[in-house]
Amino acid sequence: MIIANWKMNGSKEEVGSWLKFVSSNILINKEIPCVFCPPSCYLDYSSSLIKEISSPVKLGSQNINFSNDSALTGGINSQMLKDFLTDYVLIGHSEQRDYLNEDNESLQYKIKDTLKKNISPIFCIGEPKTIKDENLTKDYLRSQLEILDSLDSDQIVIAYEPIWAIGTGENADKIYIEEVHGFIKEFSLQELNFKEKVSVVYGGSVKLENCEDILSSSEVDGLLIGGASLDPDTFSKIYNLS
Ligand code: PGA
Repeated sequence: MIIANWKMNGSKEEVGSWLKFVSSNILINKEIPCVFCPPSCYLDYSSSLIKEISSPVKLGSQNINFSNDSALTGGINSQMLKDFLTDYVLIGHSEQRDYLNEDNESLQYKIKDTLKKNISPIFCIGEPKTIKDENLTKDYLRSQLEILDSLDSDQIVIAYEPIWAIGTGENADKIYIEEVHGFIKEFSLQELNFKEKVSVVYGGSVKLENCEDILSSSEVDGLLIGGASLDPDTFSKIYNLS
């Protein structure tokens, strides 16, 4: 799975030209979903355009809110995402954990909520630099992964994004990524009672220059791409190399 995470970038016009370019330049492989996560305000437009041009691109949301009732000003719920034919949603991105103080309880609610609506959660985890330097990465990830206990579902995707690699230009190296992805897959089988190996994608300063090396690992099931996904030519090339 190759995912474009646009964060708070782009305009309606750029969304349109990106979708048209990528749709006609990727050599789609049905086994490798190509997922576009635009800002929420462009979900409706993206959904209509994907339909209109019969695009192979799947739609993902960058956001879903936690609330049991409807009184959340500015909120978006899973039913609304369904209306836009959204197949995926990013949950627990480090920027949202940080700026919006997301905790394990609200993240678990969101994951359960999306699974009920048949939307695949892409659950983001990753450690800060201090934790890496202290060799505590696995303990840190364990505490993030615990909320998936017994939520066994082949719809759950994990995105491993070391915080120190996001938007810094400094990606994790292949050996480190392999070790961490291997740990996540093993942990989900042994401790979270998953029946099958979970898909784990890598994110954090993925570019055209490093994507092949990262993808060459058997532990890497795809990429979550921020900055380098904005340019449709670069993104299409990355997809075609996957
Ligand atoms: P980046 O962002 O590719 O710009 O590092 C990745 C992400 O935050 O999903």
